[in-house]
Amino acid sequence: MPRKKISLVGGGQIGGILALIAAQKELGDITIVDLPQLEDPMKGKALDLMALRPHDGYDVNISGSGDYAAITGSDLVIITAGLARKPGMTREDLLEINLKIIESVAKQIKQHAPDAFVILTTNPLDAIVYAFHKYSGFSKQQVVGMAGSLDSGRFKAFIAMETGLSVQDVSGMVMGGHGPAMIPLIRTASVGGIPLVDLLTTEQIDAIVKRTQQAGTEIVKLLGNGSAFYSPAAAVIEMAEAYIKDKKRVIPCAALCEGEYDIDGYFVGVPCIIGSGGVEKVIEFDLTPEEQSQLEKTIEAVKKTVEETGI
Ligand code: 2OP
Repeated sequence: MPRKKISLVGGGQIGGILALIAAQKELGDITIVDLPQLEDPMKGKALDLMALRPHDGYDVNISGSGDYAAITGSDLVIITAGLARKPGMTREDLLEINLKIIESVAKQIKQHAPDAFVILTTNPLDAIVYAFHKYSGFSKQQVVGMAGSLDSGRFKAFIAMETGLSVQDVSGMVMGGHGPAMIPLIRTASVGGIPLVDLLTTEQIDAIVKRTQQAGTEIVKLLGNGSAFYSPAAAVIEMAEAYIKDKKRVIPCAALCEGEYDIDGYFVGVPCIIGSGGVEKVIEFDLTPEEQSQLEKTIEAVKKTVEETGI
């Protein structure tokens, strides 16, 4: 079977880590594309990753380019293009500049890879995915934002850190927009099947919830110049692998809701089935009245940013 073709639009920090993990997992041949003036650095990054192969043993090809034509025929396109936050900035502060970037990226992907499954990471995430969907005209199964997987990953990481137990045994899900109003769902959290509420105090759990909601900001402050890249890349890979291997994984992602959870016409973090059909289904389950009202608050924040796009 021929290898899948994976294109990374944006060869910055997340793009580089994405290329490395995708290669190590042998998910497919990888093309890293960035602006024409960055063609050489992209080729350099790709060559460096090719030279890593004897140490790791992966048999995939990695190439770099400054020309969008290089993404032609991609099965999967991952967009990391756009500016990242600096300390003191909100994700929404990036809207104007990143919207312009996404408009031109959407045009290129529509032209060169119209059948690809597209995963976006650009902030402000939920509004940018909405904009990409409108600009590209792609189906709702084909377009998804990575954030629920990252936010849920952070929730699980903090649970493992606080309990001192293996992260492998931790479950838990975060729903809602990719912002401070996101909802770490405590009743979905468990370690080895034991509900989190039976393992930690209310104060400890509240602290985990707050830290999850602010985790991106905490990292931006510590890094001093840019935002997180290891965990966002790994969170995208989870989704990419589910698509490429048709795993039917259940992953919270920014997907288009058309009536689910009383949300109509917006992309927001909800549990999705990811398989070879892309976003195959948004899974709906009953929320408690408190969770539903939290979800409404996060949707309000997403709607406000979407309105600012003027689309
Ligand atoms: C984060 O939360 C980059 O928004 C991303 O780290």
